[in-house]
Amino acid sequence: MASREALERLRVGLSGLGRFGKLHASVLGDMPGVTLAAVCDPLPNEVAAMTARYPEAVGYDDYEAMLENAELDAVFIVSPEPLHPAQCLAAFGRGIPVFTEKPLATAVDEGERIVAAANEAGVPLQVGFVLRFDVQHALLKAEIDSGALGKIVSLRAKRNCSRAWFADFGDRAHTMYETSIHDIDLFLWYTGSPVVRVQAVERNLSGMRYPDGCWAMLEFASGAVGIIETSWLVPDGAPANVVTPTWRGTIDSELEIIGETATSRIRALDGPFSIWQEAYTAIPETGLWPEVNGAVAGALRAEDAHFLDRVRYGAPESTASVADALDGLRIAEAIVTAAAGRHPVELES
Ligand SMILES: NC(=O)c1ccc[n+]([C@@H]2O[C@H](COP(=O)([O-])OP(=O)(O)OC[C@H]3O[C@@H](n4cnc5c(N)ncnc54)[C@H](O)[C@@H]3O)[C@@H](O)[C@H]2O)c1
Repeated sequence: MASREALERLRVGLSGLGRFGKLHASVLGDMPGVTLAAVCDPLPNEVAAMTARYPEAVGYDDYEAMLENAELDAVFIVSPEPLHPAQCLAAFGRGIPVFTEKPLATAVDEGERIVAAANEAGVPLQVGFVLRFDVQHALLKAEIDSGALGKIVSLRAKRNCSRAWFADFGDRAHTMYETSIHDIDLFLWYTGSPVVRVQAVERNLSGMRYPDGCWAMLEFASGAVGIIETSWLVPDGAPANVVTPTWRGTIDSELEIIGETATSRIRALDGPFSIWQEAYTAIPETGLWPEVNGAVAGALRAEDAHFLDRVRYGAPESTASVADALDGLRIAEAIVTAAAGRHPVELES
């Protein structure tokens, strides 16, 4: 990690230039005080397109070579889920702060190793739970913390995604780590309570390695009960709320929290902004990663900025929580075990 004096401009590296790496690149390539100094992907066309767009970035096809040569102040890991542990550990081995996309890992022991390595290196680690930086979800958190909902009794989260995307994810990670990990993280944030017991059912309609549907019930130490639903069965004809130039489809998500005195809902597809076109109807999502005046803004920019403030100024972790990311991984793993074994799983609280 560079000294404070040298941090006038932060040199950041980006690993993984796919759907989501492109969005992070748009944020990092446009952020004051930040140079997108290096990008890495084994696909030469992705590297070439990125270095053409951001001429200061040196392109690499190998992650270790990027860490070795690029003199980075921080690295963003947006590569496929199974690669996160090795890429995080390699960066911490060189004392480089890490922002990693969710999930932290796809096994609890790997997640624990990453957190231990971050602590040993004494540098920031942040996991990409972008919904914590979304205005609606943050307002709900403030309402809950102010006591407006009373004691939380019930949490229900749905996260159903485009069937067309599943071909890319069905062999990479169980859907609990891929989609519902967001909702598990929100549940931990909103309740502030550990989970003590889970039950779950899964279905595999596609025949890929991991199921394309999973349903879980979570019991919290506080007494609250959580329900999670996720599937990859949203048809092509559904309204599209993900409408970036390189990534289109639907995240049909809903969150309902019932407290003793009030109930709150957030629905992703209820936005007031729609575009009816010949080919499809777009209801562009405007809170998470909208492209505004040529660069990605919204929650994604806020979470990247929060991480880089920690790198630059030593700002403490606030909205994001590594402890919750690890607890969320423990809950996701318990759900995967419960679904596979068709039996409830108890967690230590
Ligand atoms: N927070 C969110 O809402 C959100 C949304 C989408 C994706 N994600 C996360 O972002 C990550 C990437 O997802 P995606 O949808 O962009 O996947 P993707 O498949 O579109 O892109 C992954 C990219 O990584 C590259 N890659 C493969 N091996 C690599 C290596 N060794 N080093 C560097 N790059 C390598 C691939 O060639 C590809 O270009 C995942 O962890 C995913 O869960 C998060």
